[in-house]
Amino acid sequence: MSTPSFTKYLSDTAKHVDRALDGFLPKEKIAPTTIHKAMRYSVFAGGKRLRPILCLAAAEACGGEIERAMPAACAVEVLHTYSLVHDDLPCMDDDDLRRGRPTCHKVFGDGMAVLCGDALLTEAFLILAQTMQTPRYRMDAFIKELALTSGSRHLIGGQVMDLEGEGKSLTKAQLILIHKAKTAALLTTSLRLGAMAVNATPAKIEALTTFGQSLGLAFQIIDDILDVTQSTEVLGKTAGKDANVAKATYPAIVGLEKSRKEAAVLTQKAMHSIAVFGKKGEHLHQLADFLLGREY
Ligand code: IPE
Ligand code: IPE
Ligand code: MG
Ligand code: MG
Ligand code: MG
Repeated sequence: MSTPSFTKYLSDTAKHVDRALDGFLPKEKIAPTTIHKAMRYSVFAGGKRLRPILCLAAAEACGGEIERAMPAACAVEVLHTYSLVHDDLPCMDDDDLRRGRPTCHKVFGDGMAVLCGDALLTEAFLILAQTMQTPRYRMDAFIKELALTSGSRHLIGGQVMDLEGEGKSLTKAQLILIHKAKTAALLTTSLRLGAMAVNATPAKIEALTTFGQSLGLAFQIIDDILDVTQSTEVLGKTAGKDANVAKATYPAIVGLEKSRKEAAVLTQKAMHSIAVFGKKGEHLHQLADFLLGREY
């Protein structure tokens, strides 16, 4: 269960991230205004800000100054938002609701939503490039990290397998591959970039990588569970969407109860892997606990 001080940490950090995002993103009045309105509409629609919070908490766990990880934190949130804008398109998951509001294409049209996603993806790298290099990690390491994760080997690859998996009966091993690629990879990279921004040792990055892989898989399992068990109002996105299009999901393949158990086991495993950070890893530990119990 989240303590009041952790709930405050989450909301304070999300606000801190929002202020930084506001500074990084082009203002609405910059021409052509439609695209900048669409970008800001999608980024500032709410959202848990989980990836930037993981990024900053990783910097903290490594004993660094969290402000140094802020460009990376904003970059991963902007990139994640692009992935949602495209994920919701009629040619993908065809969703009308996102973060409690009509989806980008519902408000701005399909063409503009495609361009909005493209612009956010590009903007993410512009923001990341404002990270200060460290003795261990030069700019190319930051760029490669985000590019590799968001490209066809991971995030996009996962989205490809997700689309191709619709209506098919996949094995659990195939599903794990999809979930790791489409979701766990960016969560892991969020942690790694935060650590890199504060010049963390390779051993610390390794521990965070193990944490992110387990936590990320648990996160997508819970997303699949919530699609079945939660209401559209609470989710802020259409409930029951996965079953409608016969998506390959955890509850569909292993059942709800087993999905819940596996998410809990993965969360425990994740927590175990950050024990090395001791007290400095407390926020990461609490985040893992919070994500397991989340309702949206
Ligand atoms: C939704 O991510 C997409 C998945 C990868 C499951 P989030 O649940 O983090 O969405 P927001 O950012 O809070 O809207
Ligand atoms: C989305 O997975 C993963 C990415 C956007 C990369 P889902 O399709 O399950 O996410 P939701 O449920 O629409 O948020
Ligand atoms: Mg999808
Ligand atoms: Mg979707
Ligand atoms: Mg989902």
